[in-house]
Amino acid sequence: MLKLKNIDAFFGKIQVLRRVTLHVEAGEIVSLIGANGAGKTTLLNVISGVHPSWEGSRIFNDDETKGWRAERLVAQGIVQVPEAEKVFTPLSVLENLELGAYLRRLGRAVLQEELERVFGFFPILRERKNQPAGTLSGGERQMLALGKALMARPKMIMPDEPSLGLAPTIVAEIFRIILSLNKQGTTILLVEQNAKEALRVSTRAYVLDTGRIVLTGTGEDLLNNEEVKRAFLGKDYRGKWER
Ligand SMILES: Nc1ncnc2c1ncn2[C@@H]1O[C@H](COP(=O)(O)OP(=O)(O)O)[C@@H](O)[C@H]1O
Ligand SMILES: [Mg+2]
Repeated sequence: MLKLKNIDAFFGKIQVLRRVTLHVEAGEIVSLIGANGAGKTTLLNVISGVHPSWEGSRIFNDDETKGWRAERLVAQGIVQVPEAEKVFTPLSVLENLELGAYLRRLGRAVLQEELERVFGFFPILRERKNQPAGTLSGGERQMLALGKALMARPKMIMPDEPSLGLAPTIVAEIFRIILSLNKQGTTILLVEQNAKEALRVSTRAYVLDTGRIVLTGTGEDLLNNEEVKRAFLGKDYRGKWER
């Protein structure tokens, strides 16, 4: 479904992605793990057409998408789920969800069906639908961010650290939801610092360290990998990949 080859990215003269090559097959959950500052968000921004990158190639469903505008990528089915703080806090839950479907220009009846589908995944959002998003808890905001992405009818979603800052029980619920979205047919490229949970739900994973892919394998391989254990899973997690 997605095939990246030799992706570079820069902030000014600083190179933050170096020849990143990865692929995601239809139906997979692939996770991208790495410490803070590794370049995970920048990579998602490149894929979704928000951050420029002119090297390499990025094929989505057989189309070279280099140079495509973000709107076109969303219309083709690639939807990034930014970190939860990025919901529109003054707008209501309902308005946030409707924005997710904006590019589809749906009629009222279809829009209502889509909302029902999202409320099926996230019943709490129905209860809160008229509240400003700013009044939601962290977990609810993350659900809203995921729900808003679903309103675009994505083929692939790319959640960016959906578990960040959430209590363990809420984290478990978010991962359960991600699994069920996947079971119902959405392909997932998941960015996480919470390597343990991410690897558990993933078919495959990549480790990104200072802009480079340094390791890849099945979720299970990486859970059992000594370097991954030391860098991400151990008690003395240092938030930094060790060379
Ligand atoms: N707006 C920006 N301006 C300059 N440098 C940035 C900016 N955003 C991120 N960076 C730098 O790019 C690198 C990758 O950042 P990012 O993709 O956000 O990493 P991650 O999501 O893995 O934490 C980091 O070194 C970060 O400091
Ligand atoms: Mg990030």
